[in-house]
Amino acid sequence: MQAGERTMRAVLALLALVGSLLLFLCLARLPADGAGGASGWDMEGRAATDYTPRVMRYLRSPANVHLVAPAALNRPILNTARVQKSEQAAKCKDIWSNNWSSSIKKKRAELASCCDAMHNFIASQKNTPLGSNMTYEVDNKKTIHITEDIFQMLPESQPLDFPFKQCAVVGNGGNLKSSNCGAEIDKSDFVFRCNLPPTSGSVSQDVGNKTNLVTVNPSIIAQKYNKLNDQKATFLENISSYGEAFLLLPAFSFRSNTAASFKVHHTLKEFSAKQKAIFFYPRYLKSLAQFWRTKGVKAYRLSSGFMITSAAMELCENVKLYGFWPFSKSIAGIPINHHYYDNQLPKPGFHAMPKEYNQILQLHGRGILKLQFGKCLTE
Ligand SMILES: *[C@@H]1O[C@H](CO)[C@@H](O)[C@H](O)[C@H]1NC(C)=O
Ligand SMILES: *[C@@H]1O[C@H](CO)[C@@H](O)[C@H](O)[C@H]1NC(C)=O
Ligand SMILES: *[C@@H]1O[C@H](CO)[C@@H](O)[C@H](O)[C@H]1NC(C)=O
Ligand SMILES: *[C@@H]1O[C@H](CO)[C@@H](O)[C@H](O)[C@H]1NC(C)=O
Repeated sequence: MQAGERTMRAVLALLALVGSLLLFLCLARLPADGAGGASGWDMEGRAATDYTPRVMRYLRSPANVHLVAPAALNRPILNTARVQKSEQAAKCKDIWSNNWSSSIKKKRAELASCCDAMHNFIASQKNTPLGSNMTYEVDNKKTIHITEDIFQMLPESQPLDFPFKQCAVVGNGGNLKSSNCGAEIDKSDFVFRCNLPPTSGSVSQDVGNKTNLVTVNPSIIAQKYNKLNDQKATFLENISSYGEAFLLLPAFSFRSNTAASFKVHHTLKEFSAKQKAIFFYPRYLKSLAQFWRTKGVKAYRLSSGFMITSAAMELCENVKLYGFWPFSKSIAGIPINHHYYDNQLPKPGFHAMPKEYNQILQLHGRGILKLQFGKCLTE
C-alpha cells in the first residue's frame, strides 16, 4: 500500500467516525415517531414518503457521502464545509467522550440483563422443563404442557456455538438487489436470515449463499407448502440451499403456530434433512418486547428481523446489517422493490417499523452495529 493511499484510508476512517457521530446527532433531532404517528413499516403511502426523505436527505448530505455509495469515495474528500462539520461534532463533548467499545459493552449488558439471549434465545431442555406448562408469547393467557414428545424436540442446551466474531443479519430489503454484497456476507462467521428468502442462483451475488440460521414464519408453511401435508419434497428441496442451517420457528408465540412448527421439525427428522428446527423461547421474546417498549418501540409484535438483530447484539462481537431499508427508494433515490426478490408489502399496522428503524439507525450511529445502506465495495 502506498503512503498516499494509507493516508487516504486514515482520513476515510476518521470521516466515517465523524459521520456516524453526526448521524447520531441528527437522529437525536428526528421526532421519536419518525413517520408522524403512523405505525406500519410498509406505509408506502404518504407517511413513508414523509419519513424517507428526512433520513435520505441527511445521509446524502455532503458530510455523509461516504455512508452512501462507493462512487462517492472517489471524490475529493477534504473541503472546508466538511472540516467545519467535524469541528461542530468535536464540540459535542458527551458524544466525543462516548467510548465505542464501552458503548457496545453497555448495550450488550443492558440486553443481557433484560433478555439473556445467551441462555434464553432458543427453547431448550434446560429452560423448558419436562412436565411444565409454558406460557405463549402473545396468546399469554394460554399455556402448553411440555410433554415427553415436545421435550424430545428441544435441544439439550442452547444450540448455537457463540460467541461469534462477525455476524451478518440479512434482511430482505430491495436495496440488496444489485448490491454486490454476497461475498462480504458470506465472509461472516455467522449469517442470520429472515423468512426463508431465496439465496441460490443469481441472487447470491447480492445476498450471499451462506446461512447459519433462518427464521420461518409458519404462515409460509401454510401458504406455500400446504402445511406440509403434501409438499414435503418441494419444501426439502427449497431449503436445501441453506445447508446445515437452523430453521428458527415461533412455535410458542401463537397457539396457531404450534402445529405447523412441530410439523417442520418432524418433516426434517423424517427425511434426515441437514437442517434442524429450533424454536424461539417465548419468555425471551416477551422480555425483548418489554425492553424495546421502554425505548419507545410499541408494537403489537416486533418484526423477526428486529428480534434477530437484538439477539445478534448479544451473541456476536460485531454485527452488520444488510437489506434493512424500509423505503420505496434506494439511498441514491432510485425506486426499488420492497424485497430483493418481490414487491409484496406485508400487512400494515402489525409491526412498528419506523420506530424499529429509528432504533437501528441510532445503534448504527453509536457504533453498536453497522448498517449497510447501499452497494458493497468490491476490491
Ligand atoms: C474505553 O473502553 C475501554 C475498554 O472497555 C476502557 O479500558 C477505557 O477505560 C474506556 N475509556 C473511557 C474514556 O471510558
Ligand atoms: C399444568 O397444567 C395442567 C392443566 O392443564 C395441570 O394439571 C398441571 O398441574 C400443570 N402443571 C404444572 C407443573 O403447573
Ligand atoms: C456458494 O457460492 C459459491 C460461489 O460463489 C460456491 O462455490 C458454493 O458452492 C456455494 N455454496 C452453496 C451452499 O451453494
Ligand atoms: C421452490 O423452488 C422452486 C425452484 O427450485 C421455485 O420455483 C419455487 O418458487 C420455490 N418455492 C418456494 C415456496 O419458495
